[in-house]
This record gives sequence, structure tokens and C-alpha cells, in this order.
Amino acid sequence: MSKLLVCGGAGFIGSTFARQRVLEHGDEVTVLDKLTYAGREENLQEIAEQPGFRFLRGAIEDAEAVAGAIAAAAPDAIVNFAAETHVDRSIAEPDAFVSTHALGTYVLLEAAREHGLRYVQVSTDEVYGSIEQGTFTEDSPLRPSSPYSATKTGADLLVQSYFHTYGLAALICRGSNNYGPYQYPEKLIPLMILNALQGDRLPVYGDGMQVRNWIHASDFSRAIGHVLELGAAGEVYNAGGPDEEANMVVVRRIIELTGASESQIEHVQDRPGHDRRYSLSSEKVRALGWSPQVRFEQGLAETVAWYHENRWWWEPIRSGEYRAYYERQYGRALG
Ligand code: NAD
Ligand code: TYD
Repeated sequence: MSKLLVCGGAGFIGSTFARQRVLEHGDEVTVLDKLTYAGREENLQEIAEQPGFRFLRGAIEDAEAVAGAIAAAAPDAIVNFAAETHVDRSIAEPDAFVSTHALGTYVLLEAAREHGLRYVQVSTDEVYGSIEQGTFTEDSPLRPSSPYSATKTGADLLVQSYFHTYGLAALICRGSNNYGPYQYPEKLIPLMILNALQGDRLPVYGDGMQVRNWIHASDFSRAIGHVLELGAAGEVYNAGGPDEEANMVVVRRIIELTGASESQIEHVQDRPGHDRRYSLSSEKVRALGWSPQVRFEQGLAETVAWYHENRWWWEPIRSGEYRAYYERQYGRALG
């Protein structure tokens, strides 16, 4: 059992990790989260009343908020999920990506250094860029292509500099594309599920033959837990999912699972600078005893069922800020 400060823990993966640590490990978890459009306190309602759980609203770039959270939590470690996470938003409005990833990570690293805390940075396979064939390892060159992945890369380099320069016990865990319950509907899988269920068009970028390496958020969260507990300071660990799939295959499978119609598919203008394929090897984190438990076919069916059964979660999102975002991004209103 340990005491953790989980930054960005009201988001999709951070809340999955917080639930796992509280319910399966008995950890005392303090979540520090700015509650941007993507952060939702209801993601944490299952653990809100658990002993040792605490939610604090605050930004990681706010040194006072971070100092207050550390004083309240007295943590053994910081795990940082806090980020702007959508590539399309980073193309339209990169500002918050720079401030959260650069300044926010810096503020957290300084706090970890001051208090001698172990630090895990949650990162992404997108720092390696696109790969036509084969698979990325931790030693692959960093070639990010979007403002999202470039600023995530900058944060990773800063984390590594704190290990090399100050000896901070800092580690990085890079995941491939996550899916599962509680994912904000701007991302491919929940967007397609909800549009399919609601009779909206299914907007496929370009030819739809881009490939993503899918990992269930519960598997990625367990990988981060392994890195937190067993990883060597200064090291990077990749956690890739067990399955790769082209976007069109994912969309067709969602159509089958929801009973939607193929005629809802609409090929729309491609994303600028769109990465063609991601693929991540996980040998190093497997050596720590981790392996993914959820295969994509089963995980996708369960995810569709979750969205089907949890309208309370997504209806307020789909009628709020997301509608305006959708119109800006796709040039049409949601039905
Ligand atoms: P998300 O967008 O669902 O959640 C991000 C959370 O961070 C939200 O709760 C938001 O309110 C919070 N946040 C944003 N800026 C903040 C700030 N300045 N201060 C404090 N809190 C802030 O994202 P997610 O999909 O859960 O991703 C979590 C982490 O995992 C990110 O670092 C992301 O880069 C990484 N990651 C995501 C994926 C994926 O497929 N979603 C894959 C690999 C890695
Ligand atoms: P996304 O979920 O945004 O994750 P990332 O870009 O970080 O991999 O997108 C996954 C893939 O789905 C990516 O190739 C872009 C594509 N995509 C669409 O075709 N249509 C959409 O409406 C969205 C959101 C994504």
C-alpha cells in the first residue's frame, strides 16, 4: 500500500488507474485535476467515499496548487496523467498543449525534486512518430509529428533531464492507443459508438486505412502500476496493446455491435500530418511481470455495451461543450 498523488486523475485513463489503485491495492490516492472539458469528477464516483481518497481541483502548472496537494497527500510518489490529449484539438489550438505539457510537467518535477518523490510520467507511443513496418522499442528515435505528440515529447525529455541532472527517481511509461469505459467521445472509438447509437454519420478520415495498436485502459493502467512499483529510475517502458487494427475495420466492427448501418460511414477530409501507423513493443515492461489481459475483439464488445448502458455518463457531454467542438471540427451538427 502506498500514498499516491495522481495528476489528471479525473480523465479517462487517470480515473481507471485511480480506481484500480484504491480498489485493488488499497492505496491512498489524492487526485489533482484542473477539470478541463475532458476531466469529470463523476469518473471517480466509485471511489469517492473510499478511505484515503481525496479529490483536489487544481492545475499542474500552478505551483501553489501542487504544493497544497503535496501537503495534503504526503505522497510517496507522483503519477502524472494530466495532459491535453486530442491530436485534432492540438492542430486547431495548440496553446494549452504547450503550457500543460511543458510548464505543468516542469512544476511537478520541481515539486518531486523538493520532496524527494518517485515520479512516473504517463506518455504515448506518438512520441516515436509513424512506423510503416515493424514496431517501436524504447530506443527508437523520437520523431513526433503533431503539436500533441511534440509537446508530450518535450515533457518526456524534461523528465529524463531531471533523472540525469538531479538524480530524481523519474520513470516514463508510454502507451499505445487506449480504449474502454469513460473515454471522452472526441476519440475514435467512443465517437463512432455514440454516433452509431444515435444515428449520426461516422466520419472516417481519408481512406481509413491508418492502423492503431489498441490497448484496454485497464491493461495500460496495470502497466503503469508495474512501472511505478518495479521500474528502474531513469528508464522508459513501452506498453503496447495485443492487437493492431485499421480504422475502417474498427468502424465496421462497431457498426455490427451497435446494429447501425454501413450507409452511416462518411469519408471526410484527412487530418493534416496524419500518422499512418503506430506499433509498440512491450518486452521491457513484460519483463517486470506485466502482460495485457484484454484482447481487442472482446474489449471492444464490452466497451460498446458500457456506452449502451451508461447514458447518464455521456448524455451531458454530448449536449454540452462537445456539440460546439463537433461542429467546429466536422462542419456539421450532431443529430
Ligand atoms: P483525458 O483527456 O481523458 O484526461 C486528461 C485529464 O487531465 C483530464 O481529467 C483533465 O482535466 C486533466 N488535465 C488537463 N490539463 C491539466 C492541467 N493543466 N492540470 C491538471 N489537470 C489537467 O486523457 P487520457 O486519455 O486519460 O490520457 C491520460 C494520459 O495518458 C495523457 O498524458 C496522455 O498523453 C496519455 N496517453 C493517452 C492515450 C490514449 O489513447 N488516450 C494513449 C497513451 C498515452
Ligand atoms: P484518435 O482517437 O484521435 O487517436 P490518435 O490520433 O491519437 O491515434 O484517432 C484514432 C484514429 O482514428 C486516427 O487514425 C484518426 C482516426 N479518426 C477518424 O478517422 N475519424 C475521427 O472522427 C477521429 C476522431 C479519428
